[in-house]
Amino acid sequence: MASIVILGLQWGDEGKGKFVDVVGKKADLVVRFQGGNNAGHTIILGNKKFVFHLLPSGVLSENAKCLIASGVVVDLKVLLHEMAILEQQGFDTSKILISSKAHLIMPYHITLDKAFEENTTNKIGTTQRGIGPTYADKINRVGIRVADLLNFNSFKDKLKVNIAEKNQILTKIYNLPEINESAIISEFENYAKQIKHRVVNSQEIILEYLQNKKNVVFEGAQGSMLDVDFGSYPFVTSSSPSVGGVLIGCGIPSNSIEKVVGIVKAYSTRVGEGPFVSEQNNAEGELLRKEGQEFGATTGRPRRCGYLDLNVLRTAVKQNGVTDIVITKLDVLSALEEIKICTHYQIDNKDVYTLPDTVTDYTKVKPVYKIFKGWKSDISKITNFKELPLTAQEYIKFIESALQTPINMISVGAERNQNIMRKEII
Ligand code: GDP
Ligand code: IMO
Ligand code: MG
Repeated sequence: MASIVILGLQWGDEGKGKFVDVVGKKADLVVRFQGGNNAGHTIILGNKKFVFHLLPSGVLSENAKCLIASGVVVDLKVLLHEMAILEQQGFDTSKILISSKAHLIMPYHITLDKAFEENTTNKIGTTQRGIGPTYADKINRVGIRVADLLNFNSFKDKLKVNIAEKNQILTKIYNLPEINESAIISEFENYAKQIKHRVVNSQEIILEYLQNKKNVVFEGAQGSMLDVDFGSYPFVTSSSPSVGGVLIGCGIPSNSIEKVVGIVKAYSTRVGEGPFVSEQNNAEGELLRKEGQEFGATTGRPRRCGYLDLNVLRTAVKQNGVTDIVITKLDVLSALEEIKICTHYQIDNKDVYTLPDTVTDYTKVKPVYKIFKGWKSDISKITNFKELPLTAQEYIKFIESALQTPINMISVGAERNQNIMRKEII
């Protein structure tokens, strides 16, 4: 093993953080390559709960270096806070590195994200962390990068240009106060001092690790259905949580990826607006939310819950070239008398096995379900596939055969060791 990519294959919150932590002990380098602190990756260690928004989830593993690559958008306040919490608990944070090319989430990006959501009739339900406005500035070539902090005059010049434009938007469109430039300057001068020793050329470092055949884990945030190009646009995030995002976000060639591990929750959840064909806006959905504790790790919002959707998963597996699947939260389904899987859709009475092209096309979609008998027993301590109730084995085998991709690990609880390993992934 030299390099694996870990991706969510649904709408995020599949349990990517837990899996990265599980494989973390074998990793030399764990890299976040896209997104920002819209992510919330949870790791449970005994009675301790960690939620990482910007730090790679390998940070709890002794030997893994952790890198925030160029494709990530960084809120330094959040990052420094996350590191401070770890330091207080005695963890080594000296191994955390940040790309000089990563873009900074500025206070006005957060204000703009909130203002847009509050004033539009087309709410996306963003995490309001400034993600969209920061990526917009990056693509518009006015973004401010980590490197600018090390050359503070450049930071101040760029800030001035941005503030002039953003003040117009804030005051004239949203009727909000102007940005306080000097407050931002002193805030970021302070951040610059705190992070300058961590700033690196991340592309060079990753390429070196790959060349030396070290174990590199690329940790995706969000999920395929939130991809800015291939998700349910516009109800998506502003980055590419797909395999392509790794290459762009790190600046590495396609042949550096050996395995693509797709993380799939045993049912579906979504936070925010947008189509969700297999959603159960009923007692079954409530039960899933209660049993799965489905509340956002970043915003605390209740997650919308529903059954597995094979059209979503088939697309995600193909789009990302998934080599291994990890199913998480199978234990949550123990509460159900019967479990459904949406095997495909019907549009105008025709069977459809792919995803609609646009959000408008979703309005005609009807889900077709296959019903499975529930197992109604505690599976959270099982570590061997054959010990699972037969009905649970059937459920897994059905998904495996529908996706024609091996399910090599099944997670049956939030703890690091609550896993059924069918085949070593790393
Ligand atoms: P991520 O964003 O993909 O890392 O996922 P989140 O951390 O946002 O959400 C996953 C939630 O499920 C977290 O609270 C995890 O602790 C929890 N979790 C992960 N795997 C399992 C599992 O197999 N069973 C149960 N019951 N909880 C799990
Ligand atoms: P992890 O990494 C679940 C969703 C938001 C919203 C949409 C756009 O924990 O899986 P944004 O703030 O990115 O502009 O919001 O994307 N979203 C997530 N949903 N898990 C996440 O990350 C998410 N990150 C963004 O709820 O619908
Ligand atoms: Mg999450």
